[in-house]
Amino acid sequence: MIPSPQGPPSTTVHVPLGDRSYEIDITSGLVEHAAARIHEVIPDLSHAIVIADLAVDEPWANQICEGLSTGSQKMRVSRRTVPSGEPSKSIAEFEQLLNWVLEEGGDRRSVVVAVGGGVIGDLAGYVAASFTRGIRFIQIPTTLLAMVDSSVGGKTGVNLPGAKNMVGAFWQPNLVLIDTEVLSTLPERSFLSGLAEVVKYGVIDDAEFFAWLETNSKALIARDSASLRYAIQVSCQCKARVVGEDERETTGRRAILNYGHTFAHAIEATAGYGKLLHGEAVSIGMQMAARLAIDLGLTNETLLQRQTDLLTACQLPTRFPEADPATMLPVMMRDKKVAHGKLRFILPTRLGKVEFVGDLEEAAVVRAIQASR
Ligand code: GLY
Repeated sequence: MIPSPQGPPSTTVHVPLGDRSYEIDITSGLVEHAAARIHEVIPDLSHAIVIADLAVDEPWANQICEGLSTGSQKMRVSRRTVPSGEPSKSIAEFEQLLNWVLEEGGDRRSVVVAVGGGVIGDLAGYVAASFTRGIRFIQIPTTLLAMVDSSVGGKTGVNLPGAKNMVGAFWQPNLVLIDTEVLSTLPERSFLSGLAEVVKYGVIDDAEFFAWLETNSKALIARDSASLRYAIQVSCQCKARVVGEDERETTGRRAILNYGHTFAHAIEATAGYGKLLHGEAVSIGMQMAARLAIDLGLTNETLLQRQTDLLTACQLPTRFPEADPATMLPVMMRDKKVAHGKLRFILPTRLGKVEFVGDLEEAAVVRAIQASR
């Protein structure tokens, strides 16, 4: 029986990581109470280092900073904005931020608060992981994609000019605060792009959730708060479970979160970063992965059809006419998930179940790309 999305407008998901465990609060209208909640989790907080995406500085980072500096447990707040977009996830920006934290008198007791999407969370998280060998860190994600994926699980880092996410650290936040009201200012295309990662959880881990998404896609697209809270909750529960089982991606379990992503990274790189949003590339990548699974006899057309229909209902692309195996394959070979020159993929066997498949024929991968044009 699928729990009803109606109910109290606040949920907490626990990420079970021993002494690095933390809570993800999912609610609506939390920003004004963020300071109080942060104090509850970090009672000795006296210096907050707020790093925000320029696009959400007003109103969200502003409100959070105001709460932190004027609340009953006032503290010193250092605040800095970073331009939106992937180019900010660079060594140069990382270095500037570290120097700024030093100038602001940051020390081991300071706490980094990231306010933004995946770029800001990864960048600010890496600053937190590195400054004086690691300080505490709070994620306040402002995009759907960051809420259901990048803000949870402790992956932090920056890009190298030729390779995404190549430098970084696992550094878990002390708290993740998710307020669905923040999504009201998120541009439509970015919002829809986040839904691709939500659909991903249904395919990789939870057939009932997939069915719930099929029934509720309209409410989600309309950004209905209760439906969004429920979808974010189930997504975070899945991610928390997987991260709890394989924090550092050593057993292969965490790699299931990369369903569709090997294709997606190659699509993003060859289309030119910025042409497709990450979630859009993931949507097409999942289609390629499902086609590859059918080609290998691992699953059937019904799975692909249901996935296509749900992604289409979420107004996501399911094909990429410019997909070119000749340019995509070399990128895929550089992917971190390539083991000793062999392509490896997370492929669905049925809804809610995926397998790690290695040692694949290049020809099958080429066919999956060609079939998705
Ligand atoms: N986004 C995949 C992971 O966090 O492992």
